[in-house]
Amino acid sequence: MISFDENTRIFQLDTKNTSYVFGVYKSEQLLHLYWGAKLPIMAELEQYILVQTKALSPQDIGMGGWSTNVARMEYPTHGSVDLRNPAMECTFDDGSACPQLRYAGYKIFDGKQKLKGLPATYCEEGDKVQTLEVELVDAPKELHVFLSYSVFEDYDVITRSVHIENRGPKCKLNSVMSASVDIPEGCDLDFMHFDGTWGRERHPARTPVFCGTQYVDMKNGASGHYHTPFVCFPQHNADEQRGRVYSMGLIWSGEFIGGAQLDNYDTMRAFIGVNKFGFGYTLETGETFQSPEAVLVYTENGLGGMSRIWHKIVRERICRGKFRDIERYALINNWEATYFDFTVEKLSAIADKAKDIGLDLLVLDDGWFGIRNDDHTGLGDWFVNRDKLPEGLDGLANEINKRGMKFGLWFEPEMMSPKDCQLFEKHPDWALHINGRQNSLGRNQLTLDLSREDVCDYIIDAVSKILESANIEYVKWDMNRYMSEVGSDKLPPERQCEVKFRYMLGLYRVLETLTSSFPDVLFESCASGGGRFDFGMLYYMPQTWSSDDTDAVERLYIQHGTSFCYPYSSMGAHVSVCPNHQVGRNTPLKTRGYVALPGQFGFELDLAKMTDEELAEAKRLVGIYKELGEVFHRGDLYRIDDPMNSRFASMNFVSEDGKKVVLLRYVIATQPSCKFKYTRLQGLDPEAVYVCRENGKRYSGAMLMNIGIAWNYRHDYESEMFIFDKLDY
Ligand code: GLA
Repeated sequence: MISFDENTRIFQLDTKNTSYVFGVYKSEQLLHLYWGAKLPIMAELEQYILVQTKALSPQDIGMGGWSTNVARMEYPTHGSVDLRNPAMECTFDDGSACPQLRYAGYKIFDGKQKLKGLPATYCEEGDKVQTLEVELVDAPKELHVFLSYSVFEDYDVITRSVHIENRGPKCKLNSVMSASVDIPEGCDLDFMHFDGTWGRERHPARTPVFCGTQYVDMKNGASGHYHTPFVCFPQHNADEQRGRVYSMGLIWSGEFIGGAQLDNYDTMRAFIGVNKFGFGYTLETGETFQSPEAVLVYTENGLGGMSRIWHKIVRERICRGKFRDIERYALINNWEATYFDFTVEKLSAIADKAKDIGLDLLVLDDGWFGIRNDDHTGLGDWFVNRDKLPEGLDGLANEINKRGMKFGLWFEPEMMSPKDCQLFEKHPDWALHINGRQNSLGRNQLTLDLSREDVCDYIIDAVSKILESANIEYVKWDMNRYMSEVGSDKLPPERQCEVKFRYMLGLYRVLETLTSSFPDVLFESCASGGGRFDFGMLYYMPQTWSSDDTDAVERLYIQHGTSFCYPYSSMGAHVSVCPNHQVGRNTPLKTRGYVALPGQFGFELDLAKMTDEELAEAKRLVGIYKELGEVFHRGDLYRIDDPMNSRFASMNFVSEDGKKVVLLRYVIATQPSCKFKYTRLQGLDPEAVYVCRENGKRYSGAMLMNIGIAWNYRHDYESEMFIFDKLDY
């Protein structure tokens, strides 16, 4: 899997279908050689590096006159010979900022170590995983940089992270990318990222890579609505089924940057890491820094092939815990049903209907604690409001449990309201703030300073007490504002630029403690919908509320974009009422159901107000979910009609064992005299026979994939589901 040839000094990292190769050159610099389809072991370095000195470029003496300004570098720094975007930047005690990293040794071992304090991929007994650690040193300043690579052979995944140890005088890290890869002929590639804002998260965007630097980043303290920490580079003509695609994601819930620099010789330097904007990290002698982990996936099977690799590694080796492999709860959440205006009676009436239609769990959303009748007050006071819940959470949980259902609860622990809040009265300095400056509010609230240990301890204690006080089996962990006036009383001036990074480390400690103390509680993360849908949160909580927009059509776009790197098993998706609260659109209940079904399914409406006919349909949807949840959540996804570029959306799922296939298709905008349309499935066994439950007909896999299922659509927002069972011979 990982080999090192002592003679050629080439490292080769092989997964099932890919190779990643770099070597140590005469100058003791690491040159990147190759990332792509699997290769035999490489013979000698010179064969693969075509570097000539280019005009004006400084030349590296150790490189025999070559210029690393045009070479492909494995972990570039700026200031000597390579004058492109560096992977690492730092300022030393003498004010210089030109680290010269030279090879100092390596280690290869089986398995993979934990990243201290950070979420990361992990391996289990029996996994074919190996790790390579390469040490680089800037000798004059004794700065040691360890590049870590783990190969998940069967997953076709390579992960990378960087650990820095300062054994010299004090220095300041200004930027540490988790991965930087130089790819030749970048002019043949597109830059693809997933953008949005509240209510319309993760819409795909794709543009040709141009000469210069392009990137997406977040500057507001969260991984964010605006961009998700994932970028990919498909060939111009790559589609869902075919074409080369390079992709990178960051396991990190804070600010990130991901992008590429195409240089003037067509080499593209792709990079991803913690955003360097506003970042700085001081290392005293003996101090260390650990970067978050980047995940790298290369495939020749187009964007669909890329997504399936991501889905598997996220589902199986990023998500953890008891709920990783089991079907989770079909739930009812009271938010859009009652907002803040709930009573035990209203909740009980909803629970009665929820029980009737087969739901597993009722979630009580915002408003159950402190003084909280709207979003202006109360955050931080995590004790039950007895005016609203006279029998407390325990009483309410019992009410729900009596019906054979589980009870779940909403929290927003990282926040504090400045109004009607005991926590704020006691600890106003616990909010992020800059002394002498006005603090800005976001949704009327302040962000707690999680870079402080005492604040994190308070959160752990407050949430634990509530979870111990009643039979709470699910937590929705919300976060509803971006950071501003970021400063902390606990850090000296030169370390204020560490606050956001340390905030995330604090948050991760809180989540690690709570999720391991309450392993039977299912945690779902949320940030005004999908404002912190990222791989870091998924390590602690296997699902995320995808968006506050519950409209079926908008959700088609959001879930489509989300599915490029996140599996459906991680997407919270609920059926809500019509006209839809966010966009006013009316769509059939069936379609709302078919859009939500592949995700972590639930309802977000007042079930007590539904007609008998609607309840019967709701019950049918829950029944389908209970049977097919495992196909959506552990099977393979094939995207067919792209809702961003057509009037339709469609996709099919193939179960892990290949025996069940589910096709879902939706009409977004119909037209008169509709054209003949067929939905051609993907990922089936061409030789096998499949029986369609809806029409009883038999189809060969080849027919379904090449001819498809005819589609006589008529109306906007119609939808259809076809379930196929593979015949056993
Ligand atoms: C956020 C969440 C919603 C809901 C509200 C409650 O907006 O995304 O689902 O929980 O907060 O205030």
